[in-house]
Amino acid sequence: MLSLKKSSPSDWLVSQNKYQSKKTRSKAKTISITAGKGGVGKTSVAVKMARLMADSGYKVLLLDCDTNLSNTVVKLGLPITNYFYELVSAQREFDDCLHKDGNLHLLSGCNGSIDMFNKSLEIDRIIIDILVNHERDYDYILLDCPAGITKETLTLNAYSDYRFVVVTPDKSSVTDSYSLIKILNKEFGVNDNHLLINKVSSEPQYQRMVKTLSETVETFLKCRLHILGGVKFEDAPVDQFDSCLLEQENSSLHKNFVKLVRKFTEEIEGRAAADEYAPFTNSRHEQDVRFTI
Ligand SMILES: Nc1ncnc2c1ncn2[C@@H]1O[C@H](COP(=O)(O)OP(=O)(O)OP(=O)(O)O)[C@@H](O)[C@H]1O
Ligand SMILES: [Mg+2]
Repeated sequence: MLSLKKSSPSDWLVSQNKYQSKKTRSKAKTISITAGKGGVGKTSVAVKMARLMADSGYKVLLLDCDTNLSNTVVKLGLPITNYFYELVSAQREFDDCLHKDGNLHLLSGCNGSIDMFNKSLEIDRIIIDILVNHERDYDYILLDCPAGITKETLTLNAYSDYRFVVVTPDKSSVTDSYSLIKILNKEFGVNDNHLLINKVSSEPQYQRMVKTLSETVETFLKCRLHILGGVKFEDAPVDQFDSCLLEQENSSLHKNFVKLVRKFTEEIEGRAAADEYAPFTNSRHEQDVRFTI
């Protein structure tokens, strides 16, 4: 399974012909939930969106790319396991490593595994290998990315069909997300991303952030930011936000996420419909047409 050859990430992506042409043959849409900065809500967003997509009938794989500080299982109240290590060391099959709940499958990482720590792994190549092998089994694959702008994480971001950049209103989050978008652009040729503003206090604050970030990214990087939307800062006790998010199906928070997910899936459907009439696309995206929520 670890057969991917060594080269620089961008060269490797081009040589594998993955980043540009992957969409012509893959089934799942791959989405990186990313940020640069830690603690902005990447995992909360990834878990909630994965759950909603699965509840809407899509087959979803949530892949925790924080491979030794995995938080997805923690947020979902599932047992911590060493499955990711067992998978990469060929002790366990992929299917036996998944937590399955209806349409939602989770491949968790480990949590402070000494084995993982001591094994030097090229995580990006391992995860891309998993994607290549399983992208035909899912409609959506969501990558919950770790904080930081390491080569591994950015390679995964670049490989993905979509990147949801999660930003909070503080200056360091804005700066870090700009740095992430810049390196993705300069090193990997990525020129469009989706923006999700989390922990927003007010509508004017949200509008200000959208304007500032869009203009800055367009002016200085000539990149496009698709606006996914915003999520309000919930003044819940720090350990209760995720249970509110996942359990309260009548809350405005839940309804807001339903809207965000619907907006995105409809955007993809619109694009798929347009692709039907685009030249040089013949059999492209047969599967897209059935993405209906
Ligand atoms: N809109 C929100 N309102 C209030 N609290 C939130 C909101 N979104 C996320 N949180 C809380 O913020 C904290 C950080 O969220 P989360 O763990 O999802 O961030 P992260 O970006 O994945 O962090 P890391 O970089 O460590 O992986 C958690 O306690 C989460 O419950
Ligand atoms: Mg996280």
